[in-house]
Amino acid sequence: MSDELVDHKKRRILSIAATVVGGIGVAYVATPFVLSMDPSAKAQAAGAPVDVDVSKLQTGQLLTVEWRGKPIWILRRNQEMLDRMKEISSQLRDPNSDELSQQPHYAKNEYRSIKPDIMVMEGICTHLGCAPTYRPELAAADLGAEWKGGFFCPCHGSRYDLSGRVYAGVPAPSNLKVPPYRFVTDTRIMIGVDPERA
Ligand code: FES
Repeated sequence: MSDELVDHKKRRILSIAATVVGGIGVAYVATPFVLSMDPSAKAQAAGAPVDVDVSKLQTGQLLTVEWRGKPIWILRRNQEMLDRMKEISSQLRDPNSDELSQQPHYAKNEYRSIKPDIMVMEGICTHLGCAPTYRPELAAADLGAEWKGGFFCPCHGSRYDLSGRVYAGVPAPSNLKVPPYRFVTDTRIMIGVDPERA
């Protein structure tokens, strides 16, 4: 077989392999409500900022990326979800995010975020570090008729709202942590960098 033919065959094989990998990626994206993404293994290992495209993130969807070995959640909320959280402020331990270590100063606001519709937070329970589960459904049978959607930690029952604010009377002592981040464009977020360092 000539070198040219061999090269042509190699290119075809590479092209098929790329298509298969692409297919797996699409399957991930099709998962309802919770998406998973692996932006750059090398960048994660080095603890570098992680660049995330949120243009395809739908209302109510939760995207998980990894930054410095931690799961970082990105949730798109609509006005109805934001309004619902106002109703439960009296049930929360730190509704105004007064514990300053739990978020950068630019996320110390009503929605704990730079833009109200995009929430960014670490997916690590502040009790003993378990992974809370995303429970967006209203009045979930196992969480009670008053449940407005949020996060539930199965290890010891801690509850958080859709801004990661912890309920009073659960083991977790504080709100979920908000990592440093900034918007590079309207639809791209850099995790690990403060806006003022842009
Ligand atoms: S680790 Fe989440 S409630 Fe204990």
